Order: sequence, then C-alpha cells, then structure tokens
Amino acid sequence: MAIDRIVRPGLEGVVAAQTRLSSVDGEAGELIIGGFPVEQLANQATFEETVYLLLEGALPNARQLLAFRQELDSRRSCSPEILQILRTAAAQKIPGMDVLRMAAGMLALKADGESAIDDDDTSSALKLIAVFPTIVAAYARLLDDLEPIPQRADLGHAANYLYMLFGKVPGPERIRALETYLNTVVDHGLNASTFTARVIISTQSDLISAIVGAVGALKGPLHGGAPGPALDMVFEIGEAGRAESILREKLKRGERFMGFGHRVYRVRDPRADVLAKAAEQLYATDADRKLYELARHVERTVLRLLDEYKPGRKLQTNVEFYTALLLHGLELPTDLFTPTFAVGRVAGWVAHCFEQQKQNRLIRPDSEYIGEKGGNWIAVGER
Ligand code: COA
Repeated sequence: MAIDRIVRPGLEGVVAAQTRLSSVDGEAGELIIGGFPVEQLANQATFEETVYLLLEGALPNARQLLAFRQELDSRRSCSPEILQILRTAAAQKIPGMDVLRMAAGMLALKADGESAIDDDDTSSALKLIAVFPTIVAAYARLLDDLEPIPQRADLGHAANYLYMLFGKVPGPERIRALETYLNTVVDHGLNASTFTARVIISTQSDLISAIVGAVGALKGPLHGGAPGPALDMVFEIGEAGRAESILREKLKRGERFMGFGHRVYRVRDPRADVLAKAAEQLYATDADRKLYELARHVERTVLRLLDEYKPGRKLQTNVEFYTALLLHGLELPTDLFTPTFAVGRVAGWVAHCFEQQKQNRLIRPDSEYIGEKGGNWIAVGER
C-alpha cells in the first residue's frame, strides 16, 4: 500500500476507524449516538439503556433492561483492596483522576467469589462501567473525612452515584439531570481518550489496560479537564457587570477560555444545548438560579469577544461549559467534574474496544524523521 507522507499534526482530518457507536458532524453541529440524535436520546434514556444500546446495538426491551440493571448492580461494589488504596490516596490528597486510574488498574485483581475478570472481557466491561461511580463517590467522601456509602440495589446507576456521594436518595429531577449528562458524554467519535483505548486494544492488550490509558488521556485540560476551570471563570467574574473587563484582560494575556472552542465543531457543540436545557430545568427547581443567569451572561460575552479577537476562528461553546453548570447544580465539587465525565465515557470506551476487536488492525501511524543523519560515534570520555 502506498504511504501517504503528508504530516498531519494531531491527526486532524485522518479517518482511522469505522464505527456504529457515534457520529460527530462538526460543520452541521450534529451528534448521533447509537443511531439517535443526542437531543432525543440524552434526556429520555436511562444511562443503562444508553449503555445497552452501545454494547448490543439496539435498545433493550423491559426484560432485557431489568436483567442488564441486575448485571451492573451485582458488580457495583469496590473490593477492600481498592478501598484501601482510596484511603491512602485520600490521606495524600491525590487528584481524583489519578486515583481513578490507579483503581481502574486494580480491577484486574479478583474480588472474593469472583473469577479472574480479565479472562472475560464482557465481565470486565460490566465491572468497569458498574464500579466507576462507586470508586469516584467513595474517594470523594474519603477526601472529606467521611466513610463511603454502599450502593442500594433498588436504585439505578445514576441515582446510585448521587446516593453514594451524598447519602440521600436523590429526587427525580436530580436523577434526570445526571442521566442526561451521562448520556450526553457517553461517546463522541474518535476523541483522544477513545482513540487511546482503541490503540491499546488494537495491540491485543486487555480491556483494563485500554481503560486505564483512556482515563489518563481524559485527564488533560484540552480534553476532559476543562469544566472545573470553566466554572472557576464564572465564579471569578462573580457578577455580570465585571464579565467584559475580566474576559478582555484574559484575552490580552493570551489565556484560553475553558469551555469554548473545539477541534471538530465549528458551530455550537450540540451537547452544549442539551446540557444547557438540562441545567435550566435543574436550576429552575433545585439550584442557584442566579448562578445560571450569570453563566449565560458570561457565555454571551465570551462568544462576542472571541468573535472580536479571533475573527473567522468559529469558536463556540463546547460541552464543558454547561457540564460545569449542570454538575455544580447537582452539588458536585469541581474536583469531581472530570471523574464524573469518566463515569459516563467509560461505557463508550468499552464499546469502542469491542468494536476494535471485531475488526482489528494494529493502529500504527507513521512519522516523518526530521533529525540529523550520519552521526559519528564519539566515546563518552572524549565528548
Ligand atoms: N479561548 C480563546 N482562544 C481560543 C480558544 C479558547 N477557548 N480556543 C481556541 N482559541 C484560539 C487559539 O488561541 C488560536 O488562536 P490563534 O490562531 O490566534 O493562535 C485559534 O483559536 C485556533 O486554536 P487551535 O488551538 O488551532 O484550536 P484547536 O482546534 O487545536 O483547539 C481546543 C481545540 C478544544 C483544544 C481549544 O479550543 C481549547 O483549548 N479550548 C479550551 C479548552 C476546552 O474547553 N477543552 C474542552 C474541549 S471539549
């Protein structure tokens, strides 16, 4: 096969896989997940339905859904070994994504009565999806000097996450808001963490290794680490009247606004709209309406200034801005924003790994050498 020698830094525009999981059209601002427009799926499906859709290729009927919920429920608890690591990490105040990476790696250990899960990728997949919220919630509590709360079998995935975090059975509007968020971020084409997972699995490595790598990729501020700083910016501004001057100063210092701009979307990220609506509903019933209004004002001002300072760049609101607002409305501390992103995205990573395994070809791009050639070896003592 002839090799295309054009260097594409960041692999921009390179199509490296075919997928049935999600389609991202950056020009039209369209996201399809498992065949459904995100606007239709995210605010109606439970997270379990969405995960089933990605893993099985079709929505479950009532019986299948019940069985799937039970499969997840039986895998939700953390092993004592993981809990011990979480305690040690909490004492050292290690960031949540680093802890999630460590704990995910430990899922290769057998829990009491469990067979070696890395013998069976399906079982590992369900364990990973089921236990991520437990790990994140337990760690958040330990950081606050509180004991972890065990899950409840009568609650679904999203409700259990909130319950394990706060120890209260959440109301329907809070569960809906979190389901909408998890569904919205569950998959998004060949983003950096999903690509990482596919690269790892393409070497015929195991699922846990692939997910550990993906967690590492998601952590970075150019990928999943943006929502915390996005909200910090709104807090820093504090009141609508200060927005323009503070934002102008930031632009003059060459700072980027977290929650704006996207490698693929050149129009508004459709996930931002879905989450903006979900946030509006949540803030109408449950949370601090003033903050919501301020955030909308900050968004409008940022977009106006980006248009002024970066004309023609087509920089729009991305998913992270409203993620921040929604998760804050659910009373999640900013440290939990990226780990909560992982709670949703882990299902997409797993589904991509299975897809890669079905049509596997080792992912191995080329590079262009731009270094010296023809070096003459000089012994160390003579250099
Ligand atoms: N705030 C201010 N300026 C921004 C910007 C932002 N959020 N995003 C991009 N720009 C500017 C760049 O400075 C650059 O300007 P220049 O050409 O004058 O130097 C121009 O827009 C193009 O940026 P580029 O780095 O080529 O875009 P990209 O496609 O590589 O970057 C992101 C995409 C997401 C990395 C980028 O928009 C960004 O850093 N956003 C903030 C972080 C964020 O929200 N991440 C979550 C993504 S879902």
